[in-house]
Amino acid sequence: MNLENIQLDLDFVRSQFPAFDDPLAKNWSFFENAGGSYVPINVIQKLSQFMTSTKVQPYADYEMSKIAGKEMDESTKIFSQMINAKNNEILIGGSTSINLYVLSNALKSFIKPGDEIIVTNQDHEANISPWRRLSEHGAIIKEWQFNKQTHELEIEDLKKLLSNKTKILAVTHCSNIIGSVNNLREISDLAHNYDAYVIGDGVSYAPHGLPDVKELDVDFYSFSLYKTYGPHLALLYGKEEILRKLPNQNHEFLKGMYPYTINPGGPNHEELVSLIGIYDYFNNLYLHHFGETKISTREKIKKINSLISKHEENIANPLLDYLSKRNDLKLFGKSRIKNKNRAPTISIISKNKSSKYFSNFLVQNKIATRNDNFYAWRCLKSLGVDVEDGVVRLSMVHYNTEKEVTEIINIIDRFS
Ligand SMILES: Cc1ncc(COP(=O)(O)O)c(C=O)c1O
Repeated sequence: MNLENIQLDLDFVRSQFPAFDDPLAKNWSFFENAGGSYVPINVIQKLSQFMTSTKVQPYADYEMSKIAGKEMDESTKIFSQMINAKNNEILIGGSTSINLYVLSNALKSFIKPGDEIIVTNQDHEANISPWRRLSEHGAIIKEWQFNKQTHELEIEDLKKLLSNKTKILAVTHCSNIIGSVNNLREISDLAHNYDAYVIGDGVSYAPHGLPDVKELDVDFYSFSLYKTYGPHLALLYGKEEILRKLPNQNHEFLKGMYPYTINPGGPNHEELVSLIGIYDYFNNLYLHHFGETKISTREKIKKINSLISKHEENIANPLLDYLSKRNDLKLFGKSRIKNKNRAPTISIISKNKSSKYFSNFLVQNKIATRNDNFYAWRCLKSLGVDVEDGVVRLSMVHYNTEKEVTEIINIIDRFS
């Protein structure tokens, strides 16, 4: 089967998301996906089913409890397969901010005074402040700054910062403002020459295609499931050989039972189980487009990813092209997506009007968006953008349509 000829079936995709038929959401074009995505019916059904039939304490010997425990295990198992991790390398927590904070607390026992930590000014604060805080334990913080002209993180600049003292490098896989996809594999390879741990923030990357964490060779990787078609939870991946060495932050008697020892408490059970619905959704997408063949879960995800990327590129490029030609607007980051080097997360400001005014104009025209700094506070400061007013962010995922893009271009054309 030639993958080139298969297009994402948008009618099918959208039929899986009840929000598109909901009276409240129906008349809106949803362009705030980087804030949180809609959820497919499979997730809603799993959540409802758990709450109805198995909302009991799991892992006891009676039927409801056995099923609850089994589904909780199934959820992490299926997610580990989707991102090519081992079952015991996955931890589900409340949010990426919490996961990375908990991780930094665990890693601080590895830090000696004088050790160096590299953070960027392109990241969301969730992957900066937990690491900067380790300066309280003697760590020296270095900042990898993006190129002021291109807004890209340059590998040559990283090379100047890495040293034998580098212990941690925290970097985003994809910026939630600039939209650029950073070459995490190349970054990991460089950092590993110095035995540094690489912490990848995949929050703005994962909704556009679940990554293969082994291929990236990162040591830790976190993304938010509520932006990846699920409930308000986040996933943290860690390499088994490192997780095994981390101190126990849970109850004393659980010592040795990683990854449970990293988090002081477990995740919300019903939401954890509903994550199976994300797999069910992707599997339905796979079956709809490719039919049933016996391939691994990861292989299915790879095929879905390529369909998604192709569609996202098709819908984002006309908008990027239009915005980059408007002299009264400033677009941040690349003005074209090519080979998945950028996500369809598009930040703009008006040179004449505030971002608040601009976003209100779009909202009045039934475009669901907002102006904000989106907690990429240092990124906006470095871009010279007022952090209170922020940027207007138009963020799409694979269920956005060409029609919505044509409409938004027509609407922005009336904005001056
Ligand atoms: C790139 C990026 N990293 C981290 C986060 C924080 O995620 P969470 O809300 O799960 O803490 C966000 C949230 O918007 C984000 O966009």
